[in-house]
Amino acid sequence: MLDKQSAIPIYVQIEDYLKEQIAQGVYPVKSLIPSERELTDMFGVSRMTVRQSLTNLVKDGLLYREKGRGTFVAEEKMEQPLNGLTSFTEDMKERGFTPGTKLISFSQIHPDPQIAARLGLSSEAVVHKVVRIRYADDTPMAIERSYLPVDLFPALTEEALQGSLYAFIENKEKLVIGQATQRMEAALAKTDDAGYLQIALPAAVVLIERVSTLEDGRIFEVVRSTYRADRYKFISEIGR
Ligand code: GLP
Repeated sequence: MLDKQSAIPIYVQIEDYLKEQIAQGVYPVKSLIPSERELTDMFGVSRMTVRQSLTNLVKDGLLYREKGRGTFVAEEKMEQPLNGLTSFTEDMKERGFTPGTKLISFSQIHPDPQIAARLGLSSEAVVHKVVRIRYADDTPMAIERSYLPVDLFPALTEEALQGSLYAFIENKEKLVIGQATQRMEAALAKTDDAGYLQIALPAAVVLIERVSTLEDGRIFEVVRSTYRADRYKFISEIGR
């Protein structure tokens, strides 16, 4: 299985072998892979080498470790297109998951200067601040902190926020959503967010800020979302 003469390091060959086995379904999602000792025997290499391969695969998100239980095959990441102005609810349905929402808080606040500037409002304005955990089936995928002008949505209720915000805007408020700007960056999860997302620290997350406008140009939301980096990859179509 291994080519000791090859210029490809042994630990990389082991990684490739395990990737292939996972791709072929020899080790299905959530199944236990052989232990370090078993792999060491199987390949006739040092335990250090096997450990390096496994650590790399864990870092790449293909495997995950559970203390005292072993190393398992991770679920495939969700592919999230960056091109469309879709809602979380639509994204999940599109992929065959049941979207879920847990409303953590819903309050009316004066926005901090940065949020106010993004919304094109003064800090004296009142905005809804909505914090929601979003689920795919029962798995927490993201936390969304949304800021919406109260003037635009005086009728926004807790009940509406249990479902799709975009459905509320389009179907109840009869407003037409236009376009958005998104900013994306990598970060480490904060303690409270790791708790909401049920991930162990330290954990990588992807932060996306979306500023969206209605068709008539009015800014209707600033949303700061924290996505699990172990569950998401992002794709965009690009041309030239
Ligand atoms: C995505 C976006 C948010 C948007 C939300 C609406 O998750 N990142 O900016 O507010 O969708 O989703 P829904 O209509 O399901 O509440």
